[in-house]
Amino acid sequence: MDFKEKIRLIQDFPQPGVNFKDITTLLKDGKAFHAAIDQMVEQLKSKEIDLVIGPEARGFVVGTPLAYAMGVGFIPVRKAGKLPGETVETGYSLEYGKDRLAIHKDAIRPGQRVLIVDDLLATGGTVNATLDLVRQLEADVVGAAFVIELTYLHGRAKLPDLDIYTLIQY
Ligand code: HPA
Repeated sequence: MDFKEKIRLIQDFPQPGVNFKDITTLLKDGKAFHAAIDQMVEQLKSKEIDLVIGPEARGFVVGTPLAYAMGVGFIPVRKAGKLPGETVETGYSLEYGKDRLAIHKDAIRPGQRVLIVDDLLATGGTVNATLDLVRQLEADVVGAAFVIELTYLHGRAKLPDLDIYTLIQY
């Protein structure tokens, strides 16, 4: 299936000069959404994975069906202050300012093999923060998977030690 044709491009969102890749048009197409998750599972089948880790909000949308299809657990990474249990946190920079991400301290046991999942790899800021969290919990990070990679933002270059899987590249 040509997944790229399911992505809607929106010029000048959220600001002039940005050509925004909108995945909601892929998600609303049941066959395409199903095939996209299946293809990601296929790409990752040689990996031994214990847990999928997804940052809010779009990391949940891609990470939970992937975890379900692989028959492994899903661990949410959330903005600081949202998770009810004891957490570890990390700071990270966004395009506009800074924020903090958090994960439950007991979410991962040391040495568990985790896959980080999000909808889109841009500059790698969110993945780097998520990596920091799972490393604080002494996870064994087996890779990261994304529906879309914006290669012109060179996120991969900032994640040299990580095996990265992407379905659609721009
Ligand atoms: N689409 C969605 N999210 C994004 C994009 C985009 O084009 N660029 C940075 N984050």
